[in-house]
Amino acid sequence: MQKIILKDNYMLEGKNIYKQINGSEILNNISLNVVPSKISCLIGPSGSGKSTIINCLSLLTPPSKGVVTLNGQDFSFENEKSSYSIFPYPLVTVVFQGLFLFPHMTNEKNILLPLQEHNKDLSNFDILVDRLKIREVLNKYPNECSGGEKQRVALARQILLEPQYLLLDEVTSALDLETVNTVAEILVEMRNKGVGILLATHMINLAKTIGNDFYFIDKGIMIESGNISRLNTPETERLNKFLQIYI
Ligand SMILES: Nc1ncnc2c1ncn2[C@@H]1O[C@H](COP(=O)(O)OP(=O)(O)O)[C@@H](O)[C@H]1O
Ligand SMILES: [Mg+2]
Repeated sequence: MQKIILKDNYMLEGKNIYKQINGSEILNNISLNVVPSKISCLIGPSGSGKSTIINCLSLLTPPSKGVVTLNGQDFSFENEKSSYSIFPYPLVTVVFQGLFLFPHMTNEKNILLPLQEHNKDLSNFDILVDRLKIREVLNKYPNECSGGEKQRVALARQILLEPQYLLLDEVTSALDLETVNTVAEILVEMRNKGVGILLATHMINLAKTIGNDFYFIDKGIMIESGNISRLNTPETERLNKFLQIYI
């Protein structure tokens, strides 16, 4: 990874991000921050652009226009052709909605391979495996596991990489509520250690319980953002209507 020019206010920022795919505007002037020691929640209907934002912030998908700033270092995108060959991984780590576990490796190998690749400490492996209750699936292959088991394996893999910024794309959607609680506890512990977390989720109660702030997008447009408490008293009619379903 290129040397990062350090600033006092470390964060991962997306500024005025646009993304066009095949002529349609997927993201339209989206700005959002992932801040150390904060859990920011990204909410919005399916197809609103949550995954695309996460992919752009991780620099895996180049925005059509806009700037991604990582700890003070700007990655500017002027047009469709701008791109960088630098991926700030595992400093910025994503648990993708599609999880992307290697199908030809056991779950244990899936978790250990990137840790070994990046010379990460393995001492927390056993504790996390037990907390996420995945010990009995370690020797299985991903296609022998349920959706919830795969989500927990993918989470363990990325958490153990000790990222500074962790971007989570609907990673609790297949989990029972007891396990969601365990994941929530782990995320709060990570936040308390200084990790900046972006949590794309449809679980509004989870967002309200562990989130610090929120971003609500619809059709690629930022409709409303602010302190998480504002989910109780939304300012816009659109967010109000969206939240009605969850009451
Ligand atoms: N690679 C792609 N090609 C074409 N359309 C895409 C592609 N990726 C995303 N889209 C479209 O962009 C919109 C936003 O998608 P996405 O970011 O996955 O939304 P969300 O995560 O909020 O459900 C959707 O309409 C989706 O069909
Ligand atoms: Mg998505």
